[in-house]
Amino acid sequence: MVDTVVSLPALLSAIREVGAYLRERFYSFSRSDTEYKTARDPVSYVDRHAEQLLLEHCARLLPEAGFILEEGGNRDQEKELLWVIDPLDGTKNFVHGIPLFGISVALLHHRAPILGVVYAVPQDEVFWAVRGGGAYREKEPLQVSSTADPDKLLIVTGFMYKDPERAERYFRALNEVMRRFGGLRRLGSAALDLAYVAAGRLDAFFEMDLNPWDVAAGALLVKEAGGVVTDFSGGENYLFGNSILAGNHYAHQKVQEVLREVGAY
Ligand code: IPD
Ligand code: CA
Ligand code: CA
Repeated sequence: MVDTVVSLPALLSAIREVGAYLRERFYSFSRSDTEYKTARDPVSYVDRHAEQLLLEHCARLLPEAGFILEEGGNRDQEKELLWVIDPLDGTKNFVHGIPLFGISVALLHHRAPILGVVYAVPQDEVFWAVRGGGAYREKEPLQVSSTADPDKLLIVTGFMYKDPERAERYFRALNEVMRRFGGLRRLGSAALDLAYVAAGRLDAFFEMDLNPWDVAAGALLVKEAGGVVTDFSGGENYLFGNSILAGNHYAHQKVQEVLREVGAY
């Protein structure tokens, strides 16, 4: 279906073009240019300008689609086709000069992703997936890892701190994950976390309180790379819900056991 609605090469080249803007700003960005949406949630003119560029490209490529945008809100959300865009995932890394951030663009049909692109900007790596068509890094097919040994599993997460009561349960999960598995990472970009799970670099990812623009593209990448994506309870509500767990089949199962045992959902 994707082939008939949008040109993938044109989309990838538009995303690379916006990525070039982010890369150029990254090396000249001053931390004092950071603004704050809330006390701990940074944003900058770079996020907003990149989003505007992506909005223009996507509207040109597919005029009939609506938008869910991190910075600009929703436009024509009732449309059958919806672009879901995070113009800069990993803003905190960006403003601190840490080269781990990316662009996440997904196309939803009836609120389910049919196309997902995560562009790791400093590394110039494009990860993309089409529903039913596989996941790729550039032209190379992606496959989730097959690691099953708990001591060899490398898990990635993002720290949540919004709700103190839920945070307690999350800390219990962290404790168990550190105790039971080979290693734990916090990279600072959910979109990259998922792309790296799809690429088999990491074995599982879990996080709470994310938004559709953080995960829509990356979740499709993981699924198309042969992985499992659910919410913490094993259900399907990971896009518009408040938790996501993705990984190779084994890692997903093992982390879900932990989440269940500590009452994380
Ligand atoms: C954030 C990143 C981070 C996650 C945060 C997100 P942003 O997105 O994905 O890894 O832990 O919760 O908000 O703000 O950099 O686009
Ligand atoms: Ca984000
Ligand atoms: Ca963002």
